[in-house]
Amino acid sequence: MYNIAIISGDGIGREVMSACEYLLDKLDLEFSFKYGEAGFDCFNKNGTTLPEETIKIAKNSDAVLFGASTSTPGEPSPIINLRKELNVYANIRPIKSYKGVDAIRDDIDFVIVRENTEGLYSQVEYGDENKIIAERIISRKASEKISRVAFNLCIKRGQNKVTCVHKSNVLKKTDGVFKESFYKVAQNYPQITAEDFYVDAAAMYLITQPQNFNVIVSTNLFGDILSDESAGLVGGLGLAPSGNIGDYNGLFEPVHGSAPDIAGKNIANPCSMILSASMMLDYLGEWEISNNIKNTVEKVISDCKIRTPDLGGKSSTMEVTKAIVKELI
Ligand code: NAI
Ligand code: MG
Repeated sequence: MYNIAIISGDGIGREVMSACEYLLDKLDLEFSFKYGEAGFDCFNKNGTTLPEETIKIAKNSDAVLFGASTSTPGEPSPIINLRKELNVYANIRPIKSYKGVDAIRDDIDFVIVRENTEGLYSQVEYGDENKIIAERIISRKASEKISRVAFNLCIKRGQNKVTCVHKSNVLKKTDGVFKESFYKVAQNYPQITAEDFYVDAAAMYLITQPQNFNVIVSTNLFGDILSDESAGLVGGLGLAPSGNIGDYNGLFEPVHGSAPDIAGKNIANPCSMILSASMMLDYLGEWEISNNIKNTVEKVISDCKIRTPDLGGKSSTMEVTKAIVKELI
């Protein structure tokens, strides 16, 4: 029996989470779901974007599933704070071209490892109305830790190159430390090629030669930006899952946000959420079921018949979900 915290958030977060729950209910596994509120609607109701009760539910679970939340003006981001509360320091974002989906190339298979606790996500900004300073925090400890995650993941994936992405020509001190830490850790992995690019060049190479990347490790904001760019290479945000992993907790969420432009229409692609749940099952040690879900999603999408509009289809969120479930069991 797995205790899973379900935090749907708002916007399409709710729609893709219902789809995901529908699928999890059909699996030959026992789950106990506990529900937590977070996000914009939660703020309007409770005066906070992340209630203590939600943090408690998340901390007491075996794993957390998070949908998406709309940002609330003047309020902290619930997902950033939740990642910090759970100390899930590694944000793992696999990028892969799927058969039959319009991708820039059909041989893309890399993963972005984004540092999740520091960088420009400190949410510390101060100054007066004419000049405002944002704190960009980079520590050797967190930089070495995330580099180790990247090299270990490279081995697990059977690949042989890790690319560090930074901007140390301008952010000489902070990204100087990030790059130094990366190469220090790289010495312990002589069988793996270690290379680094400035973030602007990396953004171009992602378009011109995405097939050459295996594992990319970067700071919080660069990792965030490159994730959406990378999702765009292989069919968009509807297919981009992620896992936030720490030493004691795992939180799984689609890369996308609450998509207000399509919320409430039952046309959001559920695959990024379902693939995030597959990453959760892998984390929980249910490797076979996790792989089955991944392969089934790929099969259903590549059949081309049942797809949401973001992938050129006409099907609804639940039609796609039911097609995946039907194929799965
Ligand atoms: P977004 O990721 O919500 O949407 C970007 C574009 O991708 C939109 O055109 C949307 O329709 C499309 N899209 C996203 N997910 C999709 C799916 N599953 N199926 C089909 N199409 C999909 O980013 P946006 O519009 O910049 O932000 C909207 C809100 O979400 C903002 O308030 C933002 O702060 C918040 N946000 C929350 C995140 C989270 O909760 N983790 C992450 C990113 C943004
Ligand atoms: Mg993002």
